[in-house]
Amino acid sequence: MPACSAPGKLILFGEHAVVFGQPALSTAIDLRAEVYVRPHTEWLADGQSLDAPRYAYVKAAVEKAGAPRPLWIEVRSAIPEGSGLGSSAAVTVSTLGAVRRMRGTFEVRAIARDAFEVELGVQGRASPIDTTTATAGGAILALPTPEKGVLWSFERGDRQWHLHHRLLPPITFVVGFTGVSAPTGPLVAKVRELVDAKPEARSWIEEIGAITLDGLRALQAKDFVAAGELMTRNHALLNALGVGHPSLDRLVAAARPTSYGVKLTGAGGGGSMVALTDRPEATAKAITAAGGRPFLVTAEPKGVVGLG
Ligand code: PMV
Repeated sequence: MPACSAPGKLILFGEHAVVFGQPALSTAIDLRAEVYVRPHTEWLADGQSLDAPRYAYVKAAVEKAGAPRPLWIEVRSAIPEGSGLGSSAAVTVSTLGAVRRMRGTFEVRAIARDAFEVELGVQGRASPIDTTTATAGGAILALPTPEKGVLWSFERGDRQWHLHHRLLPPITFVVGFTGVSAPTGPLVAKVRELVDAKPEARSWIEEIGAITLDGLRALQAKDFVAAGELMTRNHALLNALGVGHPSLDRLVAAARPTSYGVKLTGAGGGGSMVALTDRPEATAKAITAAGGRPFLVTAEPKGVVGLG
């Protein structure tokens, strides 16, 4: 049965600002989704209708991949849904990969492009950082202008994203899932409205872009004190943009005493926070005590791969 797997992701700096074309840094993580497909008499995902809202990305992906006849689809994912850890991107990329394997058209760059278009279609507005991270693995830097070794580039209107691999030192991040799932589309739209209404918000978006580049340099230099301070500032700016949530603030406050820095990761409005810490067990314990679900994650070099 043709199948593919793809990793989840953690945005380290720059979420939301990247939708406006600012730099962002993410890393693939060692939680993966797997999608299996085989021809069938009707369209089914995990035995259910593809029209169920939770299969919106799967449905859009099989349409995009041009599956010639109905499929039986199975989704197995270790990435908690609605957690900000890139579950929808990993499932989208795996579905595209599995259908392309079935058709003999597996091609990584085309999968990255199609996955970005699927996210755009389902979410309304999006950047290609999640889908590129799920496709290419490793640490990904999105930039408004291309640098040497660019993986691929996408544009939408007046925004351009040039996606690059970057090397980060091995780091164990502690993620805390609030248990509150918030869809990305409305949060992205909310930030757009704020930026249109409030000139100051535009400067916050630009500051997040600058923080991303400083943050990358700090992480690469293993200057975790500086990287942590930048994460804390990035978090404050995301709160100012209106994508914070009381459940996030609780976990951020709980993780802070044992961490270099803590911020929300992904779209916010609930979802997850990420802590940079050299005491991962203590930070995870503090997150649990504050009512969150901790995950210790490490960088994952592998992007989309065929299974079997
Ligand atoms: O929470 P997620 O995995 O949907 O991450 C969204 C990241 C945003 O920057 C908010 C949106 C995007 O498309 O880049």
